[in-house]
Amino acid sequence: MKRVFSGVQPTGNLHLGNYLGAIKNWVAMQREHDCLYCIVDLHAITVAQAPDELTDNTREVTAGLIAAGLDPKTCIIFNQSRVAAHAELAWILNCFTPLGWLNRMTQFKEKAGKQRDKALLGLYAYPVLMAADILLYHATGVPVGEDQKQHLELSRDIAGAFNRAYDVEFFPLPEPMIFGAATRVMSLRDGRRKMSKSDGSDYARINLTDDADTLALKIKRAKTDSEPGLSYDPERRPEAANLLSIYAALAGEPVERVVAEHAGVGFAAFKGRLADLAIETLGPIAQRMRELLADPAYIDGVLADGAERARRIGDANLAEVRRIMGLLDA
Ligand code: AMP
Ligand code: TRP
Repeated sequence: MKRVFSGVQPTGNLHLGNYLGAIKNWVAMQREHDCLYCIVDLHAITVAQAPDELTDNTREVTAGLIAAGLDPKTCIIFNQSRVAAHAELAWILNCFTPLGWLNRMTQFKEKAGKQRDKALLGLYAYPVLMAADILLYHATGVPVGEDQKQHLELSRDIAGAFNRAYDVEFFPLPEPMIFGAATRVMSLRDGRRKMSKSDGSDYARINLTDDADTLALKIKRAKTDSEPGLSYDPERRPEAANLLSIYAALAGEPVERVVAEHAGVGFAAFKGRLADLAIETLGPIAQRMRELLADPAYIDGVLADGAERARRIGDANLAEVRRIMGLLDA
């Protein structure tokens, strides 16, 4: 069994893109591997967060993961700041990370913008904390999207730098786990943009908490084009392609089959079928999420239990790091 680690930021508005692009894959892996899924609140605070929202969003993401099918008894679900070893190992790894490596990180460049002097040290060190998350558990499988591949490469480099410095093979080198047909869900209002939690229009996005009526309405209002019938051509007909691939992902069918089945069907009828399918597959997740969010004590209990189990693994590895480095300990 591989040890798998992945993280998600507690930033609210879990949507269909998060579900099909990430969470669904996590659910599929939980029985095959030894999985830790972390709500990365320490990463979230690299940009300003309102305290109440951070708390609410941490609970909401946790509820989303459980509602989508993660079993907190099978895998470990916890929030990062609860396990102090993440921050401690991140400090240690800072001491093995040349600035030149961090200067190459494209996400930092994007997020820091033009006023580089005003960018925060935490944002700059973000990828080192991510390396600490993974290496603390000796995780070798890391499910991530395209955008995080550079950070994962850096985690490998940092692991190598530590191992070389002490002539040990202590940290295994983590590998990205990229899923076959990586589903990229696009906005319902613009088929060329990614569905995103920050989109100004809620009609661009299917939230995991949307009820049946909202789902049906959003799908009905989704942008289409004026060609008759349906065809899968992401370049020329991005909106049609997006609706077809959402259907395929929700039905668990290859997109070719969905296209063949709906060849003679127009947008209106297809949208009706898509709405039915979305309500059937996502409805129970939304329902379960609402039930879970009504019981924050349960969610907090899951996170407390997850943190305790994570600590047991992480603390043992961190003690070994200390021993290797000659840091005196009890
Ligand atoms: P984010 O919401 O950007 O923090 O992303 C959380 C996870 O969801 C990451 O693994 C992303 O790759 C994935 N994700 C976010 N938006 C989409 C999307 N529109 N389509 C597919 N995957 C997505
Ligand atoms: N940086 C990742 C993101 O924004 C989240 C993350 C933090 C992560 N630590 C991680 C992902 C460790 C994988 C492994 O999506």
